[in-house]
Amino acid sequence: MKVDGQHFRSIWLEPDGRSVGAIDQRRLPHEFAVARIASVEAAADAIRSMLVRGAPLIGATAAYGVALAMRADGSDATLDEAYRLLIATRPTAINLKWALDQMEQTLRPLPSSARVEAAYGRADEIAEEDVAINREIGRHGLALIEEAAASKKSGEPVNILTHCNAGWLATVDWGTATAPIYCAHDRGLAVHVWVDETRPRNQGASLTAWELGHHGVSHTVIPDNTGGHLMQHGMVDLVIVGTDRVTANGDVCNKIGTYLKALAAHDNHVPFYVALPSPTIDFSIDDGLTQIPIEQRAPGEVATMSGRTADGRIETVRVVPEDSPVANYGFDVTPSRLVTGLITERGVLKADRNALCGVFRDRAAGR
Ligand code: MRU
Repeated sequence: MKVDGQHFRSIWLEPDGRSVGAIDQRRLPHEFAVARIASVEAAADAIRSMLVRGAPLIGATAAYGVALAMRADGSDATLDEAYRLLIATRPTAINLKWALDQMEQTLRPLPSSARVEAAYGRADEIAEEDVAINREIGRHGLALIEEAAASKKSGEPVNILTHCNAGWLATVDWGTATAPIYCAHDRGLAVHVWVDETRPRNQGASLTAWELGHHGVSHTVIPDNTGGHLMQHGMVDLVIVGTDRVTANGDVCNKIGTYLKALAAHDNHVPFYVALPSPTIDFSIDDGLTQIPIEQRAPGEVATMSGRTADGRIETVRVVPEDSPVANYGFDVTPSRLVTGLITERGVLKADRNALCGVFRDRAAGR
């Protein structure tokens, strides 16, 4: 999508054909900076430190990480070590494992001399596939926004609430939850997005608001606790969120706080949609509550807040008493019964095993 009129992706292969460029998301919204990733260690560090984040982008970065490892040495031992290093970076988003498995399946049968070229080729494909998938998610999700718009007075916007950043920054391009929004906006439909700030790392306030603003989409940042109130007052037409892992029966794991939005939506008869690319489906499990590892992150993310001071400095301040313990669960699980529909690249599906395994039979079989 566009940044100041120039088209950007969140990750790309640099012109040298070796190193990888990525937008440094830790510095947004205050500074637009690009980082160069030149080794598998740097790729792992970029994921771990959240220079890149969001399930599909984590997967794409890991794929390029394997390619960088193969450039250094195409041996089996290096392939094993790259897999081990990258899989350990973040535990919840299944796209990481999916991408690493894709790389492994492509490279393992090849002689080491053929692995560099094949690795870059597959990593590029994974990135391109993500863009194509999200474009399709946009197309299918657009129909839902058009439906909501049909019941509005002329010129009145469709109000969509989203949580965290499931935008183009979280993918290679388009985003998942935002793809239908960008499609609607680009077609001239009036849309307005309620952006949950998404404490503790504020991916909504920092990233979603930034990218919507740069694309010219009307939006308002709200504290995380506001959604229920808005829904009670008819100010939300639909919720669209992204996800880090969907089980075979349609349970949805996403950024902490998503479950509370789903409960509020259910209580207020607001449709609750989840946008996901098929690599986010984990067909090996069917109980989200017990089978998905939930990342627990550093207490400092809760105990402090960072931002830009009036004179332009980036400062971090403590907002919790020095001695108070804090908990920092990164994700929660929304049971499938609270999900109105899954917006996938193959259409809007019911959140259940029949729909997912029927439409994605090939994926379920590991293809
Ligand atoms: O911790 P993050 O910022 O990686 O979490 C991101 C999310 O929870 C997104 O909603 C999810 O990855 C979907 S991205 C299309």
